[in-house]
Amino acid sequence: MNFFSYQNGTLCAEKVPLDAMAARFGTPCYIYSRAALESAYREFELACAERDTLICYSVKANSNLALLNLLARLGSGFDIVSGGELARVLAAGGSAAKTVFSGVGKSEAEMHAALEAGVLCFNVESEGELDRLAAVANSVRKIAPVSLRVNPDVDPKTHPYIATGLRESKFGIPYDEALPLYRKAAKLAGLRVVGIDVHIGSQIVDAEPFVAALGKMLELVDALGATGVHLDHVDLGGGLGIRYRDEAPPAARDYLGELFRRLGSRKLRILFEPGRSLVGNIGILLTRVEYLKHGAAKNFVVTDAAMNDLLRPALYDAWHDVLPVARRGDPARRYDVVGPVCESADFLARERLLAVAPGDLLAVMSAGAYGMTMSSNYNSRPRPAEVIVDGETAHLVRERERVESLFASERLLP
Ligand code: LLP
Repeated sequence: MNFFSYQNGTLCAEKVPLDAMAARFGTPCYIYSRAALESAYREFELACAERDTLICYSVKANSNLALLNLLARLGSGFDIVSGGELARVLAAGGSAAKTVFSGVGKSEAEMHAALEAGVLCFNVESEGELDRLAAVANSVRKIAPVSLRVNPDVDPKTHPYIATGLRESKFGIPYDEALPLYRKAAKLAGLRVVGIDVHIGSQIVDAEPFVAALGKMLELVDALGATGVHLDHVDLGGGLGIRYRDEAPPAARDYLGELFRRLGSRKLRILFEPGRSLVGNIGILLTRVEYLKHGAAKNFVVTDAAMNDLLRPALYDAWHDVLPVARRGDPARRYDVVGPVCESADFLARERLLAVAPGDLLAVMSAGAYGMTMSSNYNSRPRPAEVIVDGETAHLVRERERVESLFASERLLP
């Protein structure tokens, strides 16, 4: 299903023309489709239906409160990595009992908050963290449910910045150290060992590394079972990729099908932490062309959106399609699409054939995941508005930031 399509020559989000949204909300502006979100979630959920599973949407991909609330209403759990994300989940009506707490650097304050809220599980990434969690839990007379996040040393074949399951990565507990640490965890007062966790990376477009990682986790599950430590769940993390350009990731059904086949008849509950695969293709970044610069070596489209609004191209050399909101008949030229920020890495797209004029609107596609959440105020640029379209109605779900709020918490010296 295509939730962003041309209708009467104008690119629309569901039934709403994007030019009307630019007029109403201004640019740059993130626009998400509610139907696309619900469709992606339902597809994942349907593929899970035969098994005891829990989908824990990875909040870092897109943490807008309205979006989290829609997911909570669909029954989703959450994967968080900070006290800030926990607060968002709770404010959005999410259930702590369906929330797992991941991340390599949980502070004491964050552990307190998550214990207080009653999260489903802490995904522990080091011995130091295990000790700290036990101490915090004992200090408030609570029992912390824990999984160890194990580093399986599997190559996910993705961009090196988003590969997390290789031996040299900072993430997780080295595979060979997992069993001794489990034995320690099982004895520590204040902890209850409930699961095992793995996350090998992001934008992975092949099921094979996931299956390999699961295989390694099952070996540990068996070895633990033999020593009397029985787990309730295996958390397989996130990482399923989407199509940005010409990638061909497996459909949720196929990816999950392969994992479930590998699991066979085991009765373990399976947790997933999908982020990008649920929200990546539900949103766009709408931007207006400020200037064209035609030069001997290169042509530039200068837009009002920049790397501070969408960092992925600058950081990972990531590809996002760029579509004109209204198609022009003029001949196309080859352009780099760049923003106003003072960095040469400030581009949204390079070497694209476009027919555009100043004032035109462009849609930067597949911007629903790691777009707004990675935005910044670099160059003192207020962050964009966010809008969710629902059929014929557009809802502003985050106001455009105001310049005054950028320095409202700063103080002059006396
Ligand atoms: N679980 C854990 C423990 C994670 O670290 C992540 C993502 C996820 C789940 C969700 O992964 P997903 O299903 O979205 O692939 N900023 C990068 C992606 C960084 C991913 C970080 N961890 C990008 O824009 O491509």
